[in-house]
Amino acid sequence: MLQVKNICCIGAGYVGGPTMAVIALKNPNIKVNVVDINSDRIAAWNTDDLPIYEPGLLDVVKQARGRNLFFNTDIETGIKEADMIFISVNTPTKTFGVGKGRAADLRFVELCARQIAQLSTTDKIVVEKSTLPVRTAQAVKTILSETGNGIKFQVLSNPEFLAEGTAIQDLMQPDRVLIGGDQTPEGLAAIEALTSVYASWVARERIIQTRLWSSELSKLTANAFLAQRISSINSISALCEVTGADVDEVAYAIGSDSRIGSKFLKSSVGFGGSCFQKDILNLVYLCEYFGLPEAAAYWEQVIILNDYQKRRFAMNIIQTLFNTVSGKKIAMLGWAFKKDTNDTRESAAIYVSDHLLNDMANVYVFDPKVPEKEMYDDLDYLGTRSKDENRKLLKVVNDPYEACKGAHAIAVITEWDEFKTYDWKRIYDGMMKPAFIFDGRNILDHKKLMEIGFKVKAIGKSY
Ligand code: UDX
Ligand code: UDX
Repeated sequence: MLQVKNICCIGAGYVGGPTMAVIALKNPNIKVNVVDINSDRIAAWNTDDLPIYEPGLLDVVKQARGRNLFFNTDIETGIKEADMIFISVNTPTKTFGVGKGRAADLRFVELCARQIAQLSTTDKIVVEKSTLPVRTAQAVKTILSETGNGIKFQVLSNPEFLAEGTAIQDLMQPDRVLIGGDQTPEGLAAIEALTSVYASWVARERIIQTRLWSSELSKLTANAFLAQRISSINSISALCEVTGADVDEVAYAIGSDSRIGSKFLKSSVGFGGSCFQKDILNLVYLCEYFGLPEAAAYWEQVIILNDYQKRRFAMNIIQTLFNTVSGKKIAMLGWAFKKDTNDTRESAAIYVSDHLLNDMANVYVFDPKVPEKEMYDDLDYLGTRSKDENRKLLKVVNDPYEACKGAHAIAVITEWDEFKTYDWKRIYDGMMKPAFIFDGRNILDHKKLMEIGFKVKAIGKSY
């Protein structure tokens, strides 16, 4: 059997970094090189101040780094030395041209494939780790075989299912590992080679082997199903607010049906993250491209509902504050797209604050992990107003009590655990009255808040 001895991973991001750290930890005999064009990022991976925040990650990195795990910018050597190469670069949604706003921009993946083809002098297995549209492997294969110098390449799809904030746990104990490849003798051998890397710590029956296209499509479908559950319960949250039903009770009641299951039924201000929206847009694009408009419209609705939920939350704040937030201080707790991560991609916070700023609110944000620069970058990227205006209207503070002092309302956007432990009486005393709190995650004890004197508004609650 093909024995993997040297792995190179191109892309030291949220996916590549943690995945390679765990592979290296569990396979001390395999040299794992993580390379990236971003030298600042690589430098940070070589310190104890890692570029991404992920519980348990530093511990894993420290055990393997310098032993068989290496982070560097020397992409050429990394590629040349490796017998297995993971492509884990980002694949943003296209912002221009054909497929704008929907299709994935594969330019980085294509660049990687061309680089691998040019530099390789020995046979290699190329593993797609980035989430990609179905049949990307075909494009990668074509580039490798047309531009390579007679070297044999096998292309595998090995989508990542880790969720941020729980990446290490998800990697250590995955529900399943999915590996797709060509159903030829060489393809099956490559699948086996990668299987043996994971089998160092994952039970073989949890390693699913499929054909290439099934693997690629499964990743998009898994994310689409997960996101669809959130949009489904969020649509019900709107109905709860007007009928007097309670969305958490409804979610619990339906989730107890083992056919439905209880996970991913937590109503919220809207899902964020780098994957859900991008993958669904991708699926929509694929359906349209292959002439399936009904299927495309079906999945697009998941995104439309999510945008509606974010807008609805912001509008509720404005309407409740007597139809204007102009000049009013609104404290925003949380900017990350979920707790236990410093990632803000597609976070509801960006869109909610944008709506509030449009109404000239003074927004004061506190997040335990997200740096100020990131928040301004996120807002500037939207392009709704000038950089100066964003900095004038939105302030970032390092202390939650400071953020809430003198505020007319508080909006809870991220479900950080520490928010539950705050001295809410002290916060109430320092606020303008009536003191409103809008819980976009339903994590706070609403009864207690009301006893203190807060006027509580929450997703899917009618009080
Ligand atoms: C990315 C994709 O967004 C996702 O679809 C896929 O499932 C996994 O890879 P993530 O790791 O979160 O997710 O992205 P990001 O944190 O942006 O990391 C990508 C890294 O690749 C960056 O550090 C970037 O500098 C690097 N990169 C990008 C290269 O090294 N070379 C390139 O040509 C392009
Ligand atoms: C997701 C998938 O879970 C993972 O398998 C895939 O590899 C990448 O995309 P991630 O985006 O990191 O992971 O986080 P996830 O936990 O799925 O949360 C996504 C968003 O949905 C977050 O904004 C989260 O707060 C929200 N969410 C999640 C809800 O609003 N309600 C829920 O019940 C669950």
